[in-house]
Amino acid sequence: AIIRRQDYRPPDWLVPEIDLDFALDPARTQIRAVLSVARNGAHDRYLKLDGDGLVPLEVKVDGRPLESGEWTLDGGALIIPLTGDAHQIETLVELAPENNSKLMGLYASGGLLCTQCEAEGFRRITFFPDRPDVLSRYSVRMEADPARFPVLLANGDPIEQGSSADGRHWARWTDPFPKPCYLFALVAGDLACNADSFVTMSGREVKLGIWVKEADLPRTGHAMEALKNSMAWDERVYGREYDLDVFNIVAVADFNFGAMENKGLNIFNSRYILADPETATDIDYDGVEGVVAHEYFHNWSGNRVTCRDWFQLSLKEGFTVFRDQNFSADMGSHAVKRIEDVRVLRAAQFQEDAGPLAHPVRPESYIEISNFYTATIYNKGAELIRMMALMLGPERFRAGSDLYFKRHDGQAATCEDFVRAMEEGGGIDLGQFRRWYEQAGTPHVRATLRHDEATQTVELLLEQSMPPTPGQPDKQPMAIPLRTALFDRIGSAHKGEELLMLTQPQQSFTFGGFAEAPVLSINRGFSAPVIVATDRSQGDLAFLSAHDDDPFARYEAMQQLMVNVLVGRIAGQNVDEAAVVAAIRDTVVDPHLDPAFIAEAIRLPSEAYLGDQMAKVDPDAIHIARDALQRRIGQELEPLWRDIHARTKANSFSLSSAAKGARKLRNTALICLVASGVPDGAAVAFSQFDEADNMTERQAALATLANGASDEREAALDIFYNRYRNDALTLDKWFQTQAFALHPDTVDLVEELGRHPDFTLSNPNRVRSLYGAFGGNQWAFHHRSGKGYRLVANCIIALDKLNPQTAARLVPPLGRWCRFDDERAALMRGELQRILAEPGLSKDVTEQVGKSLE
Ligand code: ARG
Ligand code: ZN
Repeated sequence: AIIRRQDYRPPDWLVPEIDLDFALDPARTQIRAVLSVARNGAHDRYLKLDGDGLVPLEVKVDGRPLESGEWTLDGGALIIPLTGDAHQIETLVELAPENNSKLMGLYASGGLLCTQCEAEGFRRITFFPDRPDVLSRYSVRMEADPARFPVLLANGDPIEQGSSADGRHWARWTDPFPKPCYLFALVAGDLACNADSFVTMSGREVKLGIWVKEADLPRTGHAMEALKNSMAWDERVYGREYDLDVFNIVAVADFNFGAMENKGLNIFNSRYILADPETATDIDYDGVEGVVAHEYFHNWSGNRVTCRDWFQLSLKEGFTVFRDQNFSADMGSHAVKRIEDVRVLRAAQFQEDAGPLAHPVRPESYIEISNFYTATIYNKGAELIRMMALMLGPERFRAGSDLYFKRHDGQAATCEDFVRAMEEGGGIDLGQFRRWYEQAGTPHVRATLRHDEATQTVELLLEQSMPPTPGQPDKQPMAIPLRTALFDRIGSAHKGEELLMLTQPQQSFTFGGFAEAPVLSINRGFSAPVIVATDRSQGDLAFLSAHDDDPFARYEAMQQLMVNVLVGRIAGQNVDEAAVVAAIRDTVVDPHLDPAFIAEAIRLPSEAYLGDQMAKVDPDAIHIARDALQRRIGQELEPLWRDIHARTKANSFSLSSAAKGARKLRNTALICLVASGVPDGAAVAFSQFDEADNMTERQAALATLANGASDEREAALDIFYNRYRNDALTLDKWFQTQAFALHPDTVDLVEELGRHPDFTLSNPNRVRSLYGAFGGNQWAFHHRSGKGYRLVANCIIALDKLNPQTAARLVPPLGRWCRFDDERAALMRGELQRILAEPGLSKDVTEQVGKSLE
C-alpha cells in the first residue's frame, strides 16, 4: 500500500500514559502493556493498535478481560471498539528475541537483548498506535535472570530495583518527557560501564555511561570525549541543555544503521563507539565523534521536538546532520570537513537524485518508510538548513532556531513549521526557497562571464535548469544562494565576495572596475547543492587551484582541472596532463597549506565521480584513464612522494589535527609512489603496513597493496587476517578492503569471500563490508560479464529472508542501469527482474526493485 503525505489525519486516539512490563528471556519474553487511551476529538472510530507479528494472549479494557470476539486483528493491528472517551487497555504478548533476524523491535545481539524501534519497530514489541505524533509518558519494568542480564537499562531515569522470589531481578525506569514510541528503548545484558559526568550550563550534574562488553571498555574513551564536547557545544552554539539526570549509550554488534537517539538511552552500532589506534582509522575516529554528536543533538532536534509523520523525517535528520557537521568542523578543520561532506553528498545524494529512486527532501509518498532513510533526507536535508543559515547569517539563524525550539517544544512538528520559525525568527521570506523541500533532483547552473573592455565591466550570466525526476516532469526555478568572487589575474586577489541569489531561470549580474577579464570563483564553500558548469579555461582553473582564498573553491578548481583532463582523454581529445602534474606539484610544496587539505586537493576524483560527469558511464575506460594519470603523477613527481612519505613518518602516535593531517598526506604519497610503478613500490607499502603503530597507516598500506598483484599483497592480507580474525569490526576492514580494491579479479575475489567461513549474512556490518563496498566499486561491480550484478542480486535474495531493511540498501547500485551501455543495462535489469520474481519478497526490497525497473 502507498502511504501519501496528503492523507495525513491526526490520530483518533491518544495515549498519554503507558506502563510496560517485560519478563525478559531470549527464547520467550512476555510483555504486558497498560495504555491509558483518550479519544482525540469527536468521532466514533474504533481503537486501532498497530502490531506486527504479535498474538494477543490477553486483552483487557478497564480491567475486564475481553472475549476473543470482542477484538479483531486487521493486518496485524488490534481493533477494539470502545464506547467512552477514556479507557485503560491492557495486552499481553510473547516474543522470541533470539529469532528476530530483522533487528527491528526486541532482538538479541551478542548475548544482549536490545531494541530498535525507529521507524516502525515498536509494533513488533507491543500493540500501540505506532506513529510519531502519539506522545506518551513511559514507565518501564524489566525483569530478567541476573546472571545473564545483570544490567537493565531503559529510557529516562532509574527509579527502583530489586530481586524477585524466584531468583530473578528487576528494575523500573521512568521517562518524564512524553515521547513517540519510536524513541522507546531497553537493553539487558552483561555490560561494563565507562562512567563519567557532565555539569550543564545551569549547574545540573548528569551521569554519563557508555556501556559495552567488558573487553571493549578501553576502546570507549574517544566516544566519551565526543559526548562531553557535544553537550558543551550544543549549549554554546544553540543554547540547548540536557534535560535528564542520566545519559546512557550502549554499543551493540548487530545493528541495521549507525545509531539511534532513543531518549536518554542511545543505542549504537559498535563501529561508532569503539576506537583505539590499533584497530580504528582516523576516519573511524571521526565517525565516532560525528555519530555520538548526531545522536546527542537529536535530544533537542528530534526528541524534544519530534516529527508529526514520517514525511517530515528530514525535519529532524537534515537539521541534526547540519548540527553534527558543524560540530565536527569546530572540533577539527572547517575546510577539510566541508570537502569531505561535499564528497559524500555528491557520491551518494547526487547519484540518488539522478536515478529512479530520486525523491524530494519531504517525500510525497512511500511504501516502506525504512527505504527513506536516504542521503536525500539526511545530507541534502542538511544542505537546505545550511543554505538558510547562510542567507540569514549566524545571529538571525540562531534567532530562528531559538523560536523553533521554543514554539515546538513537546510537539510533533513539520518541515513547514521549521521554515516558518526561520522566517519569523530570522526575518526573511523563504517563499520560493520552499521548493527545495518539494522538488527532487539536483539543479544545474551554467555560469558565463563576459568582459567588456570599453566599460571595464563584466557580466555574469547564470542559467538554471533541473532535469525531470520520477513523478516530477516539470520543475520550477529554485532559489539558489551562490557565494561568488571575481579574481584579478594580477595580484591574485578579489574585491570581496558576494552572495548572489539566483531565483530566475536566467539572470545576469554586472560588476564594474575590471580593466581585464577576471577569473570566476563561484559556489564557494559549496554554498548550494547544485552542479555548476562554467566556461573557465584550464588556465583559469590552475590559477584558482593556486590562489583561491576559499579552501573549498580551491579544492574544487583542482578537481575540475583533473576531471576535464580525464573526461577529455576518455573522449579521445588531446589533453594537457602536464598542467595537472604542475598544479599538484605546486600544491604539495605550498608551505602555507594544511597537509590534510593538500591530501584532499591532490587526490584524483573517484572513478564513480568521473562516471557521473559522463553522458554514459564507461567503467573500463574510466579506470584505464585514471590509472594512467595516477601513474604519470607518480612517476613525474617520484622524489617528492618519497620525500613526503619519509618526512611524514611520526615517532609516536597522536590524534592531534597535525598528526592526522600528516597521516592523510603520507597515505596519499604512498598511493602516488606505488602507482608510479617503481620496482620497490610494493616493498615500501609493505613496510608501512608492517611498521605502522596505527590502523590509519596499516589499512591504507593494505588498500594500496590490494590494488595490484604482488607477493606483498598476499602476505599483508594473511597477516591482517590472522591478527584480527577475532575482532569483528577490524575483520570487516579485511573484507571491505578487498571488495573495494581496484584489482582486475575483484569480482571473483568477492565471490570467494562470500563463501569465507567468517562471512555471515546475520551481521549487517559484515554484509556492508563485502557487498556494500563492492556495489560502490564501479570498475569491479560493472564487470562486463555481469558477474558482479549476479553476486549482489544473490545476496539481496538471500538476505531478504533474514533482514529486509539491510537487503533493500543493496539495491540502488543495480538501479542505475540507465547510466550504462545497453549490454550492461540489460544485465542489470535482468538481475532486478530475477529479484522481483522471488516468492515472498519483502515490501522493502519490492519497493526499491520495482521503482528501479520503472
Ligand atoms: N534516527 C537514526 C539516526 O539517524 C536512524 C534510524 C534509522 N532506522 C531505520 N529503521 N531506518 O540517527
Ligand atoms: Zn539522525
